[in-house]
Amino acid sequence: MVSAVSFSRGETALFYSRIAGTGSYLPENVVTNQDLEKFVETSDEWIRSRTGIRERRKAADGETTGDLAFHAATRAMEAAGVEASELDLIVLGTTTPDIIFPSTACLLQHRLGANGCAAFDVNAACSGFVYALGVANAFIASGQARKALVVGSETLTRMLDWNDRSTCVLFGDGAGAVVLEVSNEPGIYTTKLHADGGYKHLLFNPVGVSAGFRDGEPNHGIRVMMTGNEVFKVAVKTLDRIVGETLEAAGMDESQVDWLIPHQANLRIIEATAKRLKLPMDRVIVTVDRHGNTSSGSVPLALDEAVRSGKVQRGQTLLLEAFGGGFTWASALLRY
Ligand code: ACO
Repeated sequence: MVSAVSFSRGETALFYSRIAGTGSYLPENVVTNQDLEKFVETSDEWIRSRTGIRERRKAADGETTGDLAFHAATRAMEAAGVEASELDLIVLGTTTPDIIFPSTACLLQHRLGANGCAAFDVNAACSGFVYALGVANAFIASGQARKALVVGSETLTRMLDWNDRSTCVLFGDGAGAVVLEVSNEPGIYTTKLHADGGYKHLLFNPVGVSAGFRDGEPNHGIRVMMTGNEVFKVAVKTLDRIVGETLEAAGMDESQVDWLIPHQANLRIIEATAKRLKLPMDRVIVTVDRHGNTSSGSVPLALDEAVRSGKVQRGQTLLLEAFGGGFTWASALLRY
């Protein structure tokens, strides 16, 4: 079954939301492809040519998703000039929460001193941040919040099987955040959120509280299971569709997009989406080479890097997209 949620200019929006500030955080520990060569049968050449990844970050022992989220959120709030007490809402995309409950959003809220506002996690795997952005945008557009903190944060390396070369070379840890605030004009033109749970078998983590853990297996059976080449094909086709759908919903065309800020899973998938949009690669933000796939962290990390480096400027039009386990896929078209 395919489900879709969208929130577009002219349909139901009472208010608009705009990005007031961005922030991100990467753990200090760098793991290069050469480091991986030491304990799994792989090569820098294979990883770079198939994915574009050169290195990724790994959270230190004891460093959690909430820690990464806190640093990213603090930076976004500083950039926005927004105090914790002003926040009405915190939505945090993650598939690697600190603990089962309270949500990582609640842990973050208390650490920031934003107690009292609504706070919850969204689990949409790699689409988590763009989903969270869509949710927060809907709250603001419908008048239920004026200022929202939206975070994507992950410690994906905690759920990897380090003996499985087909997955352990792909992922990394990191977090990004934005502060959204109500605005009289866009801001966000449209967001599109989709899911198709029929694809679970191609990308999943097989254990959990209710399904049970597997005593005797490494890491209690917690691991990413992925049929990579099948995921690749569906991702390319699906992202091709969603970028077209997003532009159409906003009544815009490819030529109006200044920057594509894609989910950073694989350089070849990113290049395929850029080609579909007829965008040269110098108008695409690429961080996968240095970050690997940080799941929910990926899009806001790329966005914050692009803002802080001066590439992305106020007034420019950005197309954000993501694809991940579920399958889930999502996009946002916005004026920065
Ligand atoms: N090093 C060396 N060889 C490897 C490695 C490795 N790390 N991993 C796999 N191989 C081998 C395979 O065993 C296979 O060997 P064989 O031909 O002898 O059987 C060969 O390389 C080719 O394997 P494929 O899986 O067909 O390689 P492919 O070109 O498809 O690249 C990859 C694999 C990089 C995983 C790619 O398919 C991909 O990026 N898929 C999409 C992943 C993705 O986007 N995930 C998104 C969401 S993630 C989330 O939501 C949590």
